[in-house]
Amino acid sequence: MENIITANQTLARVNALANGNEQSLKQTSITKVGVDLGTSSIVLVVVDEDDQPLFAAFENANVVRDGLVVNYIEALQKTTKLKKLAESTLGIPLTCASGAIPPGTIGNNKKVVGNIIEGSGMELVSIVDEPTAAATVLNIQEGAVIDIGGGTTGISIFKDGEVVFSADEATGGTQMTLVLSGYLGVPTEEGEQIKRDKSKQEETFPILIPVVEKMASIVTSFLTAYGKPVQHIYLVGGATDFPQFASTFSKILGRPVIQPDFPQFVTPLGIAMISKQEELGAERRCI
Ligand SMILES: Nc1ncnc2c1ncn2[C@@H]1O[C@H](COP(=O)(O)OP(=O)(O)OP(=O)(O)O)[C@@H](O)[C@H]1O
Ligand SMILES: [Mg+2]
Repeated sequence: MENIITANQTLARVNALANGNEQSLKQTSITKVGVDLGTSSIVLVVVDEDDQPLFAAFENANVVRDGLVVNYIEALQKTTKLKKLAESTLGIPLTCASGAIPPGTIGNNKKVVGNIIEGSGMELVSIVDEPTAAATVLNIQEGAVIDIGGGTTGISIFKDGEVVFSADEATGGTQMTLVLSGYLGVPTEEGEQIKRDKSKQEETFPILIPVVEKMASIVTSFLTAYGKPVQHIYLVGGATDFPQFASTFSKILGRPVIQPDFPQFVTPLGIAMISKQEELGAERRCI
């Protein structure tokens, strides 16, 4: 699968930048910026005109619940902090950015996400659908994107590059943390650390299997509700970041699933890739 190989190379670079394992270089040219306001973190990614990652950073944050921004002030402060860090690292001003919202979000959430981006000092280019951002990274036109983030298990089915079906249900990485913390008898903050500790995943994953199986059965019911054949199934979102996640999931589903590396960075990278470019020069604007 050539699309996944390319996506994995780019995602590895985003991961290295976000975790400080690789350094960003000073820039003089055009950039595209994506801001992902998630349930558990805010991620800012900057790519160049060829979609190569230049900068990535995240802030853990509890500013979004059920896909809606619930803490505007904190979201604004953390987005502004990330933007300033990107500017000082890259040595250029960031003037334009895009954001994303979960599929089917209603009300004025779109406006709120836009206000946070504009409040942080960037012109809003567009607000995209989260799964569309993920599909851009994976370079897919057909198939289902399963996104398991902090709070939800969501599905978006694509046909000819368009979302034709989407649904989500409230089981995500937070439920995994609660189950693990309860089992180990530790506070949830500690449970979250233990869950993310790669060196402990062999012991922790078996405890989490029932939650993963529940997520897979949620997806099975979504696929039944859609009722038509789906070519490939892709798995993204931070909660899926376990080596055994995809195989456990696919056993319940009864079919293979494709999982890119660093699944927590797929959506934020895609938002940056979709965003329009900003031109540096006497007159800075989004083009
Ligand atoms: N290394 C890791 N191992 C296991 N789980 C992880 C890891 N990193 C992040 N997670 C989990 O991933 C979840 C967040 O995933 P992601 O960043 O995709 O969600 P989000 O965009 O913040 O939330 P949502 O999409 O639900 O709004 C959290 O529950 C977090 O605990
Ligand atoms: Mg997300």
